[in-house]
Amino acid sequence: MALSDAEIRDEMITILLAGHETTATSMAWVMYRLLQHPEVLETTRTEVASVFGNGRQASLAEQVAELGYLDAVTKETARLHPVVPIVLRYLEAPTRIGDFDLPAGSVAVPCIYLTHRRPDVWPDPETFRPERFIDRRVDPYAFFPFGGGAHHCLGAAFATYEMKIVLARMLARVSLRPNPVHTVRTVRRGITFAPSGGLPVIRAADPCPTELRTELQRARRRPGRLRYQAVKGLVSFGARRIALSLFSSSLPLGRPDPCFFKMSL
Ligand code: HEM
Repeated sequence: MALSDAEIRDEMITILLAGHETTATSMAWVMYRLLQHPEVLETTRTEVASVFGNGRQASLAEQVAELGYLDAVTKETARLHPVVPIVLRYLEAPTRIGDFDLPAGSVAVPCIYLTHRRPDVWPDPETFRPERFIDRRVDPYAFFPFGGGAHHCLGAAFATYEMKIVLARMLARVSLRPNPVHTVRTVRRGITFAPSGGLPVIRAADPCPTELRTELQRARRRPGRLRYQAVKGLVSFGARRIALSLFSSSLPLGRPDPCFFKMSL
């Protein structure tokens, strides 16, 4: 029997919300953690280069299977930043959980976020250490970013595979660094926990537009240096970015708005 229009719409919304938003947010958290930990970033890039850069004729699936360290990085990120922080279960029968007797009809809410930060389960829980997941089977009751049981995330394997491919490609192609004027906070977006501000990043090779702007701001207080700074900006920016550096010097300086530059770039 064919799906009705309403059913097709429901399927599309499921893919969009359950599938796309969760995966994209998880990758943003992985990039956030990698940029915070240069030594982890370096190890990950070395692994990616050795898997994709060795000229072997392996299938993509085989190559992804070799990304053991990147796999551990995504898991350790999901431990500290589970994008879905809770799951819910409606109790059809009275249930005892720990010291609590819960009547039928209750809703039990296992909290992924808090479980992943329990010091008795995860020693030194706030520390980002991908090695926790290397050569180790993890208890599904201690680590469940995709939920568990009969309603375990339907797209977990697909999302994990997709994330590793996209992240590996990104790491192989660009060097990024965090935006120094953006402080990342965890914000709730619908049902997900996401990094605030869309995680603005800067290509490592580029001078940071905001840093440049601070330079200009300083120079403006000493007018003799302004022209020098503007010229320096033009020289250090490539041809494509000349318009940007000219534009930035005409902006109301001092208004911290890195997203503006993100869009201009
Ligand atoms: C990193 C990405 C993802 C995360 C963190 C995530 C997380 C979750 C979580 C925590 C649940 C609830 C599980 C439970 O109640 O035990 C869930 C359910 C679900 N997810 Fe995902 N998910 C992701 C990607 C995807 C993708 C890519 C798809 C589809 C292509 C998908 C489809 C679903 C569906 C259909 C359910 C409902 C399963 C059910 O109730 O039987 N998810 N997901």
